[in-house]
Amino acid sequence: MKVTIDGIEIDVPKGTTILQAARLIGPEVAPPAMCYYTKLKTSGGYCRTCIVKVTQGSTANPNPMPKPVASCRTEVMDGMVVQNYTSPEIVEARKGVVEFLLMNHPLDCPVCDQAGECKLQDLGYENGSAKTRYEFKRREYEVIDIGDKIKLHMTRCILCYRCVKTAEQITDGRVHGVMHRGDAAEISTYIENVIDNDFSGNVIDVCPVGALTDKTFRFKQRVWFTKPVDAHRNCTKCSGKTRVWLKGEEVVRVTARKDQWDEVEEFICNSCRYDHKKTSDWVIEGPSQIQRNSVISQNHYNHLNELKLKVLKQQKALGFIPIDKKP
Ligand code: SF4
Ligand code: FES
Repeated sequence: MKVTIDGIEIDVPKGTTILQAARLIGPEVAPPAMCYYTKLKTSGGYCRTCIVKVTQGSTANPNPMPKPVASCRTEVMDGMVVQNYTSPEIVEARKGVVEFLLMNHPLDCPVCDQAGECKLQDLGYENGSAKTRYEFKRREYEVIDIGDKIKLHMTRCILCYRCVKTAEQITDGRVHGVMHRGDAAEISTYIENVIDNDFSGNVIDVCPVGALTDKTFRFKQRVWFTKPVDAHRNCTKCSGKTRVWLKGEEVVRVTARKDQWDEVEEFICNSCRYDHKKTSDWVIEGPSQIQRNSVISQNHYNHLNELKLKVLKQQKALGFIPIDKKP
């Protein structure tokens, strides 16, 4: 099936959504997605950040769709024409979506463990406006423990349902979910107040904001002061392929590896995540590929060193004397 997104045509199999087709073209046309998650069935359709304009439904029916559609839930039709960043209405409408998502979100980024890898920060920066029109009191909740390893800050939750679907689809018993509806909706557990099984830690990795955080890592380090490396170990429960976050020689955190869309490549077990915090537990494969524009790559100066060497070489060739070496 042929679909054109922001002027770029691509051929995709039947059943592909607009979002997936856009991702196949690349980040320059792919809409942001706060609730859709490739590895989670039935995800998407909650946040509306992925809206696009369909200016031609298909070759057979060239009428435009009357309203913006959620690209993560809308399948491509042959001959469909879609506008994302090339549509000023969509860019403007998405600013409104971001404003809604931020309406109840506290601006506690300076003390939030997700800072530096928060998708809502990225979304606000790349697709939001500088101001909010919201004047009312924000929702407030107590911070609660969900078991001994996970902390829930409900104030930061954007109700994307990813954690609920993760618990439902990859663990053997979901004990948490979204209670109530509308502005009273909240993530909560029932009865034991614990999410406790071998894969429960994955809810932390799928959470796009700092609502679910790893208690073994909380307040230990800002993420941009750590160095992520890909590592593996022999594990009987999962593939054992993880991302190990180092501060010097110390393993400060273990997470799943994430791809360019910030989605986990493979879910990992709690034993890898929480119980192996020594470098000797891991076979280090090498530095993780972190996107250049991420604050996490901020302190990794390899490319700057290369640049510095080139500049020095050029200066030498030109006979340039640096200021601090001048007589
Ligand atoms: S806690 Fe995180 S993953 Fe769960 S619904 Fe809220 S924002 Fe989404
Ligand atoms: S990513 Fe499509 S609605 Fe959330």
